[in-house]
Amino acid sequence: MPASSPFSLAPKGPPGNMGGPVREPALSVALWLSWGAALGAVACAMALLTQQTELQSLRREVSRLQRTGGPSQKGEGYPWQSLPKQNSDALEAWENGERSRKRRAVLTQKQKKQHSILHLVPINATSKDDSDVTEVMWQPALRRGRGLQAQGYGVRIRDAGVYLLYSQVLFQDVTFTMGQVVSREGQGRQETLFRCIRSMPSHPDRAYNSCYSAGVFHLHQGDILSVIIPRARAKLNLSPHGTFLGFVKL
Ligand SMILES: *[C@@H]1O[C@H](CO)[C@@H](O)[C@H](O)[C@H]1NC(C)=O
Repeated sequence: MPASSPFSLAPKGPPGNMGGPVREPALSVALWLSWGAALGAVACAMALLTQQTELQSLRREVSRLQRTGGPSQKGEGYPWQSLPKQNSDALEAWENGERSRKRRAVLTQKQKKQHSILHLVPINATSKDDSDVTEVMWQPALRRGRGLQAQGYGVRIRDAGVYLLYSQVLFQDVTFTMGQVVSREGQGRQETLFRCIRSMPSHPDRAYNSCYSAGVFHLHQGDILSVIIPRARAKLNLSPHGTFLGFVKL
């Protein structure tokens, strides 16, 4: 008979004698081992079951909290007050969630403070005697924050930053083209930020046209923004729905 190779599929040890007295202790050891394994499995199952029950009670509690909006002041015996130590993790997680929710709320408030908004509507429009432009005087219709201030025929920038600017003017003028220029005056110079141009119908009954344009600009502290119509005594419709000017700090 050849020596059993290390790769042999046959079981090692004495072959063919399954009924001898030698195998008694081996059998009982195997039996003990399998008993041990079975007991271990039962213990695991029981631990799982316990955890499952606790998890379910936690879930019930969380859904109850979601319904009622938070733990009551009375403290009417919430399960975690009597829960074993291992569930303090879940409680801690819940508290962490609550803390980060509050942090987010504070952050949102801060962001709201930073985002100044000013929507302006016309008071009146005028042309100075010696000039060939018409300017609009504005008043705030909606304001958030103190970063912008309506000031005569302009708007003063108090907080430097990047702003979305939008401008609309409703013309009622038979001049063949009408339009507005949004300009910035500051640091000793005046510059055009954007302009808008419309062709106008020539018949007075149909000579209505609005011109809207917008853009994003970096504005400096102390800049004065104004809307200028490059025509003397331009005929504008000063309804707040037809003519307006707005700033949103980004
Ligand atoms: C425009 O309105 C302002 C504020 O009411 C006033 O002081 C100013 O005289 C008006 N200008 C014209 C040209 O009507």
